[in-house]
Amino acid sequence: MLDNLSGGARIELDGLTKRYPGQDAPAVDNVSMDIPAGELVVFVGPSGCGKTTTMKMINRLIEPTSGSIRIGGRDVLAMPADGLRRHIGYVIQQTGLFPHLTIADNVALVPRLLRWPKAKTAARVEELLDLVGLDPSTFAGRYPSQLSGGQQQRVGVARALAADPPVMLMDEPFGATDPITRERLQNEFLRLQRELRKTIIFVTHDFEEALKLGDRIAVLRERSRIAQYDTPARILAAPADDYVAGFIGGDAALKRLALITVGDVAAADSTASGSDKLPRVDATASLRQALDTMVAHGVQEVACDQGVLTYAHVCAALRAAGPAMDGSGRTGAAETEETQSGAVRGAR
Ligand SMILES: Nc1ncnc2c1ncn2[C@@H]1O[C@H](COP(=O)(O)OP(=O)(O)OP(=O)(O)O)[C@@H](O)[C@H]1O
Ligand SMILES: [Mg+2]
Repeated sequence: MLDNLSGGARIELDGLTKRYPGQDAPAVDNVSMDIPAGELVVFVGPSGCGKTTTMKMINRLIEPTSGSIRIGGRDVLAMPADGLRRHIGYVIQQTGLFPHLTIADNVALVPRLLRWPKAKTAARVEELLDLVGLDPSTFAGRYPSQLSGGQQQRVGVARALAADPPVMLMDEPFGATDPITRERLQNEFLRLQRELRKTIIFVTHDFEEALKLGDRIAVLRERSRIAQYDTPARILAAPADDYVAGFIGGDAALKRLALITVGDVAAADSTASGSDKLPRVDATASLRQALDTMVAHGVQEVACDQGVLTYAHVCAALRAAGPAMDGSGRTGAAETEETQSGAVRGAR
């Protein structure tokens, strides 16, 4: 089975196809994808394109029509399906909590199936409820109908994590939360994932969420066909075609700046004086936030740990991260702007 896999496990899909009975076209058509152990891959694609079907084939809630799935090198289709599922955390699109079980019992479900000792299970339930921001003393004894939609989703995440599975399938897990809760959950989740390095497939409709969470993003067309499968930075810098560009929208450069932190920029000017009068940005802030600070203050430079970060440094960092790909020759224009901005700074 999938025990003895510490951390994450590689997932390999090969020619995976699902044809629902009575449908002409397959819902998932010949999908091949290699997901390295410990990576978080985000599926993005329009409603009905086959994301949920693809996921449910991986834990065999849906049997593939053809193709193969390997997890940690082992053939998933040759394993008993119920045993397999105890080693794959699954957060389903509509939370799927058992209404007649308390929150604590919902979270404890898989550890009990795996016959964990009672005390270990109880401690794990507390730990996980804390983790997803639900005070155990308030929520453990309640039933799902006594929680808000977003709170139920968080219980769903806790339940999927409960038995510490090497693989997690998460189908829009933060879909029903407000933007503030969602951001907090995303940050907590990222922090956790840096520690645990599970292999995660995460579905979202929110491209910003995909950029923030994904080690890689799979942009899917209808029938789950892969339009592009790459890192967020490379998708933003070089979208494969207009379809992928459509997901990015009109602010690709700003989105790329959001992926680079001020601390990443080695070029910041450490010899500059007078930085104490400039607005200051943290090393952990993104270049997008640094640019926002410049625009808000009407200046072309900000102070940071390295010294002074200029508008020219921001442009240079973007260029160093890959080509500008809007097809209008804007790379040249950006260079000119940058040179001018550098000249402005030099004249001061
Ligand atoms: N049991 C089923 N029988 C027949 N067709 C189905 C079945 N389940 C899903 N489909 C069809 O398969 C396609 C893919 O569905 P799926 O649920 O995988 O989409 P999805 O990408 O997860 O969409 P959403 O973003 O809306 O959740 C859809 O066209 C859907 O109508
Ligand atoms: Mg779905």
